[in-house]
Amino acid sequence: MWVRYSKVKTIETDRLILRKFVNRDLEDLYAYGKLDTVGPKAGWMPHPSLEHSQKILNHFIAGNDVYALCLKSENKVIGSVGLHQTKLGEYGEVYELGYVLSTFYEGQGYMFEAVKAVLDYAFNELNLEKIYVGHFLENDRSKKLINKFNFHYLNDYDYESRDYGIKRSKIYCMTIEDYNKSGGLK
Ligand SMILES: CC(C)(COP(=O)(O)OP(=O)(O)OC[C@H]1O[C@@H](n2cnc3c(N)ncnc32)[C@H](O)[C@@H]1OP(=O)(O)O)[C@@H](O)C(=O)NCCC(=O)NCCS
Repeated sequence: MWVRYSKVKTIETDRLILRKFVNRDLEDLYAYGKLDTVGPKAGWMPHPSLEHSQKILNHFIAGNDVYALCLKSENKVIGSVGLHQTKLGEYGEVYELGYVLSTFYEGQGYMFEAVKAVLDYAFNELNLEKIYVGHFLENDRSKKLINKFNFHYLNDYDYESRDYGIKRSKIYCMTIEDYNKSGGLK
């Protein structure tokens, strides 16, 4: 069952501020949204124009489930984390984590830091009981990230991606009990 949460809370980590997207993030969103190394790995096409990014940004601003990852040292948005209320086949109404990071900032532990912060918030403050996450079969970087956390593998399944149709994927879940064992870490 979903519980309703009404806003994106600002969360600060060592190197990042996780916060709601705002209009001035447009250029930053476009800078990573247009890369062909980002969206397709998450099921959406690279942004073809600034206007396209504006539509996506409007959607983020209107919603309550997507965090902008603002890198403190550059005061720049370098990616996003979503905690989406979604329907996931046999699992029903679930909370699903999704994330993308600008390719230029990979390999520095930024997404690890962001995901850890969102899990802490979701389990400790939103009191969620279970969070799901998935990746396309070929997405080794995402798999590696998920495997740093105490998610357990559930199944392979056909994920209906936004722009590329069905993509064979792996799905994982973390319960509040899994989280409490180790603060969400392996
Ligand atoms: C998936 C994705 C978020 C992974 O990003 P990432 O930078 O590899 O992830 P992490 O934040 O965990 O960083 C891990 C890397 O940082 C390094 N690192 C440095 N300091 C670290 C720290 N304090 N903690 C953890 N890792 C650290 C690790 O060695 C690791 O590097 P390696 O994988 O090259 O060995 C990113 O590749 C991405 O967004 N890709 C495009 C979109 C996408 O695939 N989205 C997911 C759809 S399911």
